[in-house]
Amino acid sequence: MRKISEGAEAVIYAARMLGRNVIVKERVAKGYRIKELDEQLRRQRTKTEAKIQSTLYEKGVRVPGVILVGKYFVVMERVQGKTLNRMAGVGKAHDRRSMGMAMAEAGRVLGTIHRLGVSHGDFTTANIMQDRSGRLWVIDFGLAAFTNSEEEMALDVLLMKRSVDSGMYERFIKSYKLGFGGKASAVLGRLGEIEKRGRYQTRTLDSA
Ligand SMILES: Nc1ncnc2c1ncn2[C@@H]1O[C@H](COP(=O)(O)OP(=O)(O)OP(=O)(O)O)[C@@H](O)[C@H]1O
Ligand SMILES: [Mg+2]
Repeated sequence: MRKISEGAEAVIYAARMLGRNVIVKERVAKGYRIKELDEQLRRQRTKTEAKIQSTLYEKGVRVPGVILVGKYFVVMERVQGKTLNRMAGVGKAHDRRSMGMAMAEAGRVLGTIHRLGVSHGDFTTANIMQDRSGRLWVIDFGLAAFTNSEEEMALDVLLMKRSVDSGMYERFIKSYKLGFGGKASAVLGRLGEIEKRGRYQTRTLDSA
């Protein structure tokens, strides 16, 4: 196995299994957390990630298929590509066009995920991958939840709003509405309220 990433909470290895390219995502111990809490968080996030990702996969959302689940690790399909935040030269005209298209697609996917009763919990450009054919894949469901909470869904939208410029956000939100359907307006209404009271700040600290 070859280590390909060491993120905020997980180490990612690339491997082969049954003739397929897979990744192993292992949640590693964090020394700064109390041991019991640390184990509980890692177990729970691993389970949540596998459960929600499998559910979405079965409903046709483009997420990596889950192959195997352990106590602290998940083996899943490997996406051949890179995360949107690593798309080269985002400022250039050509790349802006492709970023715009990616944002529109990301909005549609998030709308679909919400329509299916799931919040992502960390919907940033670092958790969306683009493969060689230009298709988008949503990853990193450790903080996701089965919910109908407009608040949780609004926080997903807000996180994306905070990380792209207004032109990109416009494209994102237009297709979010298409992906979600009728109930999108309730989520966007809640988003306005959250921005007024500034819960976003609190949430960022909470999930650290
Ligand atoms: N299914 C996958 N196929 C290919 N690469 C993946 C896959 N899942 C994760 N990766 C790579 O590993 C990185 C970290 O994965 P992930 O976001 O799931 O974990 P994380 O602990 O949140 O890490 P980070 O803090 O870097 O976001 C991703 O940015 C991506 O480059
Ligand atoms: Mg991530």
